[in-house]
Amino acid sequence: MAKTAQLTFNGQTYELPIIEGSENETAIDISELLEKTGLVTLDIGYKNTGATKSAITFLDGDHGILRYRGYGIEDLAEKSTFLEVAYLLIFGELPTTEQLKKFTRDITTHTLVHEDIKKILDGFPSTSHPMGVLASLFCAQTAFYPESLDPNRSAEGVYLSIVRSLAKMPTFAAWSYKNAVGHPVNYPDNSLDYCSRFLKMMFALPAEHYEVDPVVANALDKLLILHADHEQNCSTSTVRIVGSSKASIYSSISAGINALWGPLHGGANQEVIVMLEAIRQDGGNIEKWINKAKDKNDPFRLMGFGHRVYKNFDPRAKIIKKAADDVLNKLGINDPVLDIAMKLEEVALRDPYFIERKLYPNVDFYSGIIYRALGIPVDMFTVMFAMGRLPGWIAQWKELRENKEPIGRPRQVYVGTKSRPYVEIAKR
Ligand code: CMC
Repeated sequence: MAKTAQLTFNGQTYELPIIEGSENETAIDISELLEKTGLVTLDIGYKNTGATKSAITFLDGDHGILRYRGYGIEDLAEKSTFLEVAYLLIFGELPTTEQLKKFTRDITTHTLVHEDIKKILDGFPSTSHPMGVLASLFCAQTAFYPESLDPNRSAEGVYLSIVRSLAKMPTFAAWSYKNAVGHPVNYPDNSLDYCSRFLKMMFALPAEHYEVDPVVANALDKLLILHADHEQNCSTSTVRIVGSSKASIYSSISAGINALWGPLHGGANQEVIVMLEAIRQDGGNIEKWINKAKDKNDPFRLMGFGHRVYKNFDPRAKIIKKAADDVLNKLGINDPVLDIAMKLEEVALRDPYFIERKLYPNVDFYSGIIYRALGIPVDMFTVMFAMGRLPGWIAQWKELRENKEPIGRPRQVYVGTKSRPYVEIAKR
């Protein structure tokens, strides 16, 4: 018999269907609640609200599990490449050799961006944060590919937009950095792989020879895999809600980039390094900063700690912590903030405040340390996150369209002033 939950209101009992996911997650289906009972639900911040049924990413926050299309993040980070993972997320299966070859070739064909996009870039002052530039350039693609605005685009047309998105993202990302430092942009070198191509566009200078370090390219590839999707987080929900209005893939993803920018979301990786540097310059007094984080009268929070869903170790943080150690060793870098991060983690994990609230290091706690070791400047950290998250946003946008989901439009409980007569300005 189908399971139901009962809701009693005004002396009447209603049966609400229970929906079960493939990993036994259960949800109360309230899609007919308003019609049947006159009630809406209130869940500010969507702490208990499922916005969709999705077959892309499974996350079990209590047990620290993250899987893309059923594959464990640990296996993917160790054995796969970013483009393989992108294919998996977007099309549902790991690619065969032939499929991956074609996908890679298609992406490589589209790495160049329209020259006129450079004119848009030139309009940004060098004080612009690269995230704002990235979101703008990404959205500007709607102007260069107006056919992408057609909500009834063919599957081939959608594929082309997907390939263009993945192909041009590293170019936009590197150019947003070049703009910030006032250097001329580099064009994509299609003889290189995805990450090496990005690194060369980012770091090569006209007067110097630049050789991509494979340790750096491999570490970056792993970081992108770890960021590739994370189910219905703030930026992904933004992509889905914008996409639900049948807005183009480029504008939906541009909205996701903007949502990611905030310090409570993707912007946290930048804030972690700022925080660790501040602690170092303050003499490395860990206890003092832990106490600040616990003090409710102090706005300071331990950046890179805590998560809406993980109430256990974020599995990505475990992998990144180890990778940070490896990369620093291989590159022969001794970064004092790594020691501060490890001490901070150790002290926080023993502290009742963090234990009671189940606050553990999240993906951003150690990622900034690796980015720094790879030579990526702090302002670019969130751009790196966006590059990694792109396949997830694409997959979620595509799923929403394929499932023909209705426009996203939440309800509210109005708490403002009741109806009142208008008062003429002279009488106010
Ligand atoms: N430092 C100190 N206290 C914290 C922290 C923190 N980093 N995170 C949560 N708390 C406390 C919070 O004050 C609250 O305490 P109380 O119950 O006494 O009021 C309790 O823990 C629950 O926190 P919340 O803010 O209600 O939880 P949330 O699910 O709304 O927020 C979060 C999740 C990630 C925004 C939050 O933990 C936070 O601000 N962390 C720091 C920023 C950060 O690292 N963000 C990156 C998230 S992972 C990357 C991504 O996916 O974007």
